[in-house]
Amino acid sequence: MSRPTVRPERVQEPVGGRRFPAAFVWGAATASYQVEGAVKADGRGESIWDRFAHTPGRVWNGDTGDVACDHYHRFREDVALMAEIGLDAYRFSIAWPRVVPDGSGEVNQAGLDFYDRLVDELLANGIEPYATLYHWDLPHALEDAGGWPVRATAEAFARYAEVVAARLGDRVGHFATINEPYVVAELGYGIGTHAPGRVEPEAALAAAHHLLLAHGLATEAIRTSAPSVEVGIVLNFHPKHPATAHMLDQEAAILAHDRLNRWYLDPIVGRGYPEEAVCEAGWRRDEVREGDLDLIASPLDFLGVNYYCRHLVRSPLLPPLAPAGGEETEMGWEVYPPGLVEVLEFASSRTGNLPLYVTENGAAYPLDTADPTSDPERVSYFERHFEAALTAIERGLPLRGYFVWSLLDNFEWPHGYSYRFGIVHVDFDTLERRIRDSGRFVSRVARGGLP
Ligand code: GCO
Repeated sequence: MSRPTVRPERVQEPVGGRRFPAAFVWGAATASYQVEGAVKADGRGESIWDRFAHTPGRVWNGDTGDVACDHYHRFREDVALMAEIGLDAYRFSIAWPRVVPDGSGEVNQAGLDFYDRLVDELLANGIEPYATLYHWDLPHALEDAGGWPVRATAEAFARYAEVVAARLGDRVGHFATINEPYVVAELGYGIGTHAPGRVEPEAALAAAHHLLLAHGLATEAIRTSAPSVEVGIVLNFHPKHPATAHMLDQEAAILAHDRLNRWYLDPIVGRGYPEEAVCEAGWRRDEVREGDLDLIASPLDFLGVNYYCRHLVRSPLLPPLAPAGGEETEMGWEVYPPGLVEVLEFASSRTGNLPLYVTENGAAYPLDTADPTSDPERVSYFERHFEAALTAIERGLPLRGYFVWSLLDNFEWPHGYSYRFGIVHVDFDTLERRIRDSGRFVSRVARGGLP
């Protein structure tokens, strides 16, 4: 099975009378722990999310990813759904503990076999695989040895990346190294709401550096073992707007922007860490060794941009404000489509002509129990964000594709199965899948209608 090079001509549904370029890539995204289940199958090792989810009080309702959508066993059905929707591409992540169960020791061929089957099934259906190497399921043995705050974790990641690229790089054209290093460092090690649940702000800064280092080392490793693949990273961006015009709010917004949007992107494009934010965080940079910043700035082939919402920033020195009361999703995230244009413009102010992909965008809304496939709010959310993407393209930004989050309702991290993001509904009792109206909308936009 070889990589598809030319896509057939498609008839696309215009969005607001405007059209996406014919070569635009339409996809949907998932992540291993959120959908695969089968946590003990074929020699998979324990991940930090297995342990975290099984720790009472960590995840709502005691939910775990033990079964999730059982994508591990039902991937053929899921690929058939993607084909029915008419997706060009599938963004999935590879579970490190399936491939190297203890993180740094022996390679588990049976774990790799799963991704081999998945990739072949995608290609047989004309769907391009976009693989992410780390979407948060660190092998627990590496956490026991210190986790991301420790440099050896980055080195182990590079080896794992090389193993995967050597096995799949003949068929997978796009590899992303790390998904959202900000979330891994800050939520996992800073505030502890994600696995491994540590509340150690200094360790979070060390983790952030090692995640970027892991990205750089892996980029080199992938290029060595599979020179023809395109390598990128996926970062999450939020416009950080001051809640008022007060100068303290403005200052707080700039600092928040530096901590989230610049802290990860700037080193990747060779601009180093944002100095003021480093100072403010009191980071001594003890972990940064000579040569690290060069490795982190290894040339890229694409940047993945995850966008969900804007944040209004209030200075902690000012009295709290009442909530703004705008339109929100079930997660309480503001619906703010212009923010997508803004983050793409910000990213490309740093990356120039580098191809950009929206690697995640989507929304949780309450389930319609009478008809779980009816999701008019999600349709409207996508319609407005697709229009924003068109605006970005019309402004000349090199946006090449769009992956909706998510293909399936799935395990939404500390919220368990309470929030649903799928363009396909999943009944978690029977695991039956049904395409939602939003899936049909994506389908029409991508290729002019379902059969
Ligand atoms: C992300 C997350 C997804 C979440 C989604 C909704 O990369 O932010 O990877 O896994 O499910 O963002 O919160």
